[in-house]
Amino acid sequence: MDAAYQKLIIGNKKFAMEKKFDDPEYFKKLSLGQKPDYLWIGCSDSRVPANEVTRTESGEMFVHRNIANVVVHTDLNVMSVLEYAVNVLGVKHIIVCGHYGCGGVRAAMSHKTFGLVDKWLRNIKDVYHKHHLELDAIESEDKRADRLTELNVIEQVQNLAQTKIIQRAWHNGNHVAIHGWVYGLNSGLITELKAVYDDRNDIEPIYRYEFD
Ligand code: CO
Repeated sequence: MDAAYQKLIIGNKKFAMEKKFDDPEYFKKLSLGQKPDYLWIGCSDSRVPANEVTRTESGEMFVHRNIANVVVHTDLNVMSVLEYAVNVLGVKHIIVCGHYGCGGVRAAMSHKTFGLVDKWLRNIKDVYHKHHLELDAIESEDKRADRLTELNVIEQVQNLAQTKIIQRAWHNGNHVAIHGWVYGLNSGLITELKAVYDDRNDIEPIYRYEFD
């Protein structure tokens, strides 16, 4: 059998054994249910594993990942995750985590086609277009990509705040906070870019909903 594949099965056995060694009740407790405080919306990139970079355990973080951590209001997948995380699990913090060196952001900056993902990356081209005066003025392509990565995270934080799910939660007294982070692949460190806390004033007026 292929060693790369076997490694996973062996790894899993070690994982289960070690966890049970540290705490014999570990899996029994987890099997009772989840009550995570955090929703992580990150990039699919294999180098940015949500639990590992935040030193969190199983059960602590609800996770959604897609290419270049985009929050699209017509994406049933991310909206279902968001609704469940906020309304059922009651997460207290939502984190959008981008990362420097993001291939998705780089691809969106280019004029090449990559297949189906072009349609997805269109969302990031739109972010570029919105900030093109600032971005076009940055000569270094690396620095321009870094800045677009940051602007994309900030945009996705705003997209979250614009959803009815978040606004209704705030209206109902649920103070769920939204944080925008960028992770440095070469430092392992997170930089906090922006946070939105239960404040309708942070939402552009046209996106504000009213509730009875
Ligand atoms: Co990425």
